[in-house]
This record gives sequence, structure tokens and C-alpha cells, in this order.
Amino acid sequence: MAETTTERETWSSSTGFILAAVGSAVGLGNIWRFPGVAYESGGGAFLIPYLIALLTAGIPILFLDYAIGHRYRAAAPLAYRRMAKPAEALGWFQIALSFVIAVYYAAVIAWSLSYFVFAFDLRWGDDPAGFFVGEYLRTGDPEVSTTIVSAVAIPLVLVWVAVLAIIALGVTKGVQRVNVIFIPLLVVAFAGLVIRAVTLPGAMDGLNALFTPDWGALTDPGVWIAAYSQIFFSLSIAFGIMVTYASYQRRKANMTSSGLVVAFANSSFEILAGIGVFATLGFFAHQQATTVDELEGLTGPILSFVTFPAVISEMPGGTIFGAVFFAALVLAGFTSIISILLGVAASVQEKFGLGQKASAIAVCVVCAIISIALFSTTSGLIALDTVDQWANNVGIVLSAIVMTVLVVWVFRKVPVLRAHLNRVSTFKVGRSWWVLIGVLAPLLLTYMLFERVQTLVTEGYEGYPGWYLNLFGWGTIAFVVVAAAILTAIPWRGRDSEDFHPWPELEEEQR
Ligand code: ALA
Repeated sequence: MAETTTERETWSSSTGFILAAVGSAVGLGNIWRFPGVAYESGGGAFLIPYLIALLTAGIPILFLDYAIGHRYRAAAPLAYRRMAKPAEALGWFQIALSFVIAVYYAAVIAWSLSYFVFAFDLRWGDDPAGFFVGEYLRTGDPEVSTTIVSAVAIPLVLVWVAVLAIIALGVTKGVQRVNVIFIPLLVVAFAGLVIRAVTLPGAMDGLNALFTPDWGALTDPGVWIAAYSQIFFSLSIAFGIMVTYASYQRRKANMTSSGLVVAFANSSFEILAGIGVFATLGFFAHQQATTVDELEGLTGPILSFVTFPAVISEMPGGTIFGAVFFAALVLAGFTSIISILLGVAASVQEKFGLGQKASAIAVCVVCAIISIALFSTTSGLIALDTVDQWANNVGIVLSAIVMTVLVVWVFRKVPVLRAHLNRVSTFKVGRSWWVLIGVLAPLLLTYMLFERVQTLVTEGYEGYPGWYLNLFGWGTIAFVVVAAAILTAIPWRGRDSEDFHPWPELEEEQR
């Protein structure tokens, strides 16, 4: 059945689209991942691979996601299918990856929700590490635990109910509305936190610790891998999200200029988060009469849920600072998870010909059950850490390689996509785009993936047992591949890709 362009719901304005895309990009990755990654990977020197990754792969692949979504007007599987039928499998690979990311991402939002409440009475007491790992998460060994921790399961259910409600309301009434309210709130809250942080005693020492460059780090391939992985996760690219968001953009929409605004806003927020977090750590080191380098727990979940609570307890007005910090994590995480889930729900809706509400319910209920079963148990923290490592550093990188190779080399769609972007946008995409997405990105990413896989195979991860890494690490990748194969093999029941000509005038111009 042919689809006309008028049938699809759209963002009500360009601002609505930009806010939603910024909401998707600015997430937990900016606040709990970036500061720690930057610190570990050369401090100020990390900004060089970070900016190079942004310019050579981040923005070019963001444009590619936008071009595919906007031109083929569908979530990833149908958009790729409309581009070239066999490419549907890549769409499902990306959506299965989104599904995996969503189920653990929700758990981190649930922890943040709990900690927002805990901030009011500094519930973590004198031992934030013991409280987080022991009393709150009741973390045991790396095992397949079925013991549900109710303190995590309850906020997790709340997160899933809220996500379901927003996805069921749809693009304009649900997703856009949430972003229009949450993003300005987040910016104000975060700006307040950063201003407070940089005025604390010792703040400058923290900033020096973050920004003093370790140039030697630039020769370490791991640092470059960290920069590219950070950019992909942070910009929400190469896993189907931006394809879906762009598919709801109006026909006359300035795609590349919006993309530049989103990329700039995301990186600015990321650097702001680095400043806020390290200024706060500088204060903490000052209180302990030590240096930031001597502090422990400066990365990953421990930074936000152990080190930060310890600082909050020491800070005058710490309760308010803590409540605002965890509220900011919830707002940032929520606007990102709805983008991840919208992509999954829209794909199921299109493939199976379901209604919007039915697909939202089906997807969110399945996600919620898996999320609770895996990540609110006593092994939730370790499972989350492992799945996150593989989904990000193997899954998304692999997805970006397959995507660029298929689009550029196998189906040779760069001319048509470039013409499409240039027809609707004021910022024109030059021939260098082809070089970046067709040559540089796939080569660099393949090298990175090879390095990372080799390290994971030979050194394992965090000392977890091999069987555990096979199950939760490599098992994640196997799940994504098998899910993509099965979903592609199921016959298409919704609107098909046949007879889809949404942009006749563009095609006319290209003849
Ligand atoms: N882009 C989202 C984040 O940074 C997924 O957390």
C-alpha cells in the first residue's frame, strides 16, 4: 500500500524537533559518562579526539541518520527497507540494540529517582559506597540472580509507566510536550548546579585536574575508541533513534542546520557537565585535604551514586544541590529513554500494522518485564555494567560500520541522500561527506572494533568470570543479531515499502 506524506504525524515546529533531538542526545551519557571518560582518557587532551570524533563521524553520521529518516519517512527497519529491501535487517539490528539499551538505561533512571528522594535526608549516611552497593542495590556476585530488590523495582516500575504513557500519547502530544517542558528545566537546573560548583572552594583544582592535558594519552588507541564511542552514544546516532525522529520531521525542514544545533548543544552540555562535576570533586578533595588525583570512584555509576553523595554530605546546602543533581539526571535520562523507545515502538507498529497505543503497550510491557527481571535483582549492577560495555563499544560501533558500508558501498545511496539533504537544508553537505562516511568512518571504526574485541577476548572485563561475560556480554550481541534475523524473516504485515514515492519532485530533479 502506498503512503502519502500527509498521513504521518509530525513535530509541530522545527523548535519542537530540535528540543526533542537535544532531549534525546543529552542524557545519562553526558552527565554520568562523559566527565569520567574524559578524566580517564587524558583530561584536557581528550578534547582533541573528542572534537575529531564529533567532526569526522558524529556530525556526518547524524546527517546520515537524518537523511534516511527524513527521506524514507519511517522508523529504522521500514526506512532501510524502503531504501533497499535487504537493508531491513540492519534496521532491526539497530532497534534490537535500542531495546537492550533501554532496558538497562531505565534502571539508572530508577536509581536516580531513588537518590532524588534520598538526597533530602542524606540517606546514604557516612558510607555512600556501602549504602549504594550494599544497602540499596544489595549487590552480590556476578551470577544470574532472581532475587528482586524492591527498592529498585518500585521506581523502575514508575519509570516504565511514565515511558509507556508518553509513547502512547504519540509524537506531538507526548514526546514533544515532555521535551518542551523538561529541556528548559534541565538547562536551568544544570546551569544552577555548575554555577554553585565553580564557586566552591577548591573548584579550580578540580577543573585543573580535568583539563590539564596528558598528551601521551593521544597515542593510546583506547583513548580514541573512548572518544568515538562517547560521541555515538551521546548523539544517539547509529542505533535507529535519529532515523525515527527525523521521519516525523515536516517535509520542508532544515535538516542539516538542525543537526548542527543539536550536535553543538549536546557537546556544550557535555563539557558543562564535565566542568560541574570536576569543580565539585575539586571541592571534595579540598575538604579531604588531598588532590583530585588521589580520589577514587571518578567514573561510571560510582561517580554519580557514590562519590557525588559523599560530596553532597560535606557541602553546605548539600541537600538542595543533591536533589537538583539527581532531578537533572532523571530529566536528562527520561528525555533520552523516550527517544529510544519511540524508535522501538514505531518499528513494531509499522511492521505489524498495529495502532500507536497497542505498539506502545506491547513494547513497554515487554521491556519493563525484562528490565525488572535483569536489573532490579541483586546482580543488577554487574549485569548493567557488562551489558552497557558490550552494547556501546561493540554493538553501536558494529552498527555504524555496517550502516556506512551498506549505504555508501553496497546500495550506493550517497548521491540521492546528499541531494535530499541539500534540497531541504540551508547548510549544504559537500562531497567530503562521502569521504567521511564512506572511507574514514568505516576504516577507523573497524580498527577500533577490532582493538576492542581483542581486548575483551584476551583480557575479559572487570575480572568477571568468563561464563558471565559470555552470557551478558557476547550474549547481548548474539541476542541483537538473532532478534534482527527473526524480525526480518517475519513477513511484513503493515504498510510495505513498495510503491513509496514521497519526494517525487526531488526524483524528478535527479533524472
Ligand atoms: N544520547 C543518550 C545519552 O547520552 C542516549 O545518554
